[in-house]
Amino acid sequence: MCGIVAYIGPRQAYPILINGLKRLEYRGYDSAGLALYNNGLNIYKTKGKVSDLERHAKDKHIHGSIGIAHTRWATHGEPNDTNAHPHASQSYSIALIHNGIIENYALLRRELENRGYSFRSTTDTEVLTNLIEDIKINEDVNLFEAVRIALNQVVGAYAIVVMESGNPDMLVAARKGSPLVIGIGNGEFFVASDATPIIEYTKNVVYLDDEEVALVHRNNELKIKTIRNKEKTPYIHQLEMSLVALEKGGYEHFMLKEIYEQPISIRDSMRGRIHPESGTVTLGGIIDYEQKILNADRIIIVACGTSWHAGLVGEYLIEDLARIPVEVEYASEFRYRNPIISEKDVVLAISQSGETADTLAAIELAKSKGATILGICNVVGSSIARATHAGSYTHAGPEIGVASTKAFTAQVTLLTLFALRFAQLKGTISRSRFNQIITELTLIPNKVERTLKTCKNVVLETAEQFRDVRNFLYLGRGYNFPVALEGALKLKEISYIHAEGYPAAEMKHGPIALIDEDMPVVFIAPKQGIYDKVVSNIQEVKARKGKVIAVVTEGDTVVKNLADYVIEIPDTEEILVPLLATIPLQKLAYHIAVMRGCNVDQPRNLAKSVTVE
Ligand code: AGP
Repeated sequence: MCGIVAYIGPRQAYPILINGLKRLEYRGYDSAGLALYNNGLNIYKTKGKVSDLERHAKDKHIHGSIGIAHTRWATHGEPNDTNAHPHASQSYSIALIHNGIIENYALLRRELENRGYSFRSTTDTEVLTNLIEDIKINEDVNLFEAVRIALNQVVGAYAIVVMESGNPDMLVAARKGSPLVIGIGNGEFFVASDATPIIEYTKNVVYLDDEEVALVHRNNELKIKTIRNKEKTPYIHQLEMSLVALEKGGYEHFMLKEIYEQPISIRDSMRGRIHPESGTVTLGGIIDYEQKILNADRIIIVACGTSWHAGLVGEYLIEDLARIPVEVEYASEFRYRNPIISEKDVVLAISQSGETADTLAAIELAKSKGATILGICNVVGSSIARATHAGSYTHAGPEIGVASTKAFTAQVTLLTLFALRFAQLKGTISRSRFNQIITELTLIPNKVERTLKTCKNVVLETAEQFRDVRNFLYLGRGYNFPVALEGALKLKEISYIHAEGYPAAEMKHGPIALIDEDMPVVFIAPKQGIYDKVVSNIQEVKARKGKVIAVVTEGDTVVKNLADYVIEIPDTEEILVPLLATIPLQKLAYHIAVMRGCNVDQPRNLAKSVTVE
């Protein structure tokens, strides 16, 4: 979604802002803009990419040591030059960038129009800009106070940075429901919607909390207040992220790099959590909540998209091994459907970004009913990580490609450890079975590596064959039903081919009507689980002339004789198959998308962190 970068200090702001916007491109956007101060406000903005903004600003006044910049993902008003941020107030004295949605903007706009304001754009953001100007003039307060007072009138979500031409020595930033990080450099400050534009300048950061307003001044001052006027002491965190993790490192796309990083990211998710000497697994982050989990009536997993698919694998794992009832909910449905939640429930929120608006709202709802809230997040210090009572990080490293890959396998790895830990604590698993699974789990990174090598040619051949089809069906059973959903999601989001994931046995209850010689069907058909039943489903597709692409266990002969294309994965425990079977499906989606000329890392209409509803 939208991205924010701002700078104040001794250096030229323009290159820092442009560089920062490029780091934020992965979030998804459709226009870009910036404002600089140099004898007045200079605002440049355009529909399109950051490179279009660079072309637009070239040869213009781009000097100045204070500036704000933005990439916009349209919500209110179409993506065009006028609606792009920054927005200037009516008198052009204030410039503002904003992530989020001001829900009561129509009412505020009418009130401002009655007071003589007119608007250039159709955005909610311009309304907030003029509201701040109005308060500043009428209440005769400084910018910091004007922003604070204005935000008390706002309903909705925001991360904003504001600058004014009358005082080019300070920036004001604030957040509610949309993340904002302040980087503290040597005599300089950076503000951004995540740490990626900041990391190359400083590792010292302050994460703003909801309803906090910050002032950063050229004289090194950092002041934070709540919008209710309570002073706060800034707490400085050290970033652990490395700059190398934000580069493509020789790969053509971030997504491909991230697919190939999975042997490492899965290993990192397990690191320090498996103790072969004592035959135990620990998840340090939730250790204080183990008793709560053991006494819980049920675990409710809330998540969206790929994280929801990982949650489904988690349901199978936790019920299978630890015998604790689990429900998996789309956070977006859960938050609005008046669910029954009690103090004896444990809610487990799963999110790569830790910023997904629906997941955050689901957490708040469950919290208000007294449930214990745990999180599985990838981004350290993210809103979800901070909104939960406790949790575990996946340690997959920054995921830049919009299509989630290594975050999914890291989430599944962590859920496997979670299930094993509680199976052990509840005594629902024998020591020998536990050891068997742990041994296999530690072999998974090498097996992922092998899969990446061995599937290469057949995936390319399959991609070439099916690159121009209009539909795909993905089928799997048991642990591989969520894998089918995830395979279909990957394909549709980056190649724009319509793809459906289904439990294989459900095919005959509807989707079988779609099968003909033009319909490729991907079966996840490892030898484990209800293999024979899946073989029957394959036969049903072949009988109707469908094209079968099968992911099978190495050495399989039965499916090989039936399928048109066969992708082998190494043998493993049934419960660990998703960690291997997902790999070729990610690669299939990737290669088809590349062959179709799609923008793999920034697919159309999609955003990496979905910070609005
Ligand atoms: C995955 O490829 C998607 N881009 C998307 O479904 C994503 O998983 C979803 O928006 C949830 O995001 P989160 O894990 O950051 O909460």
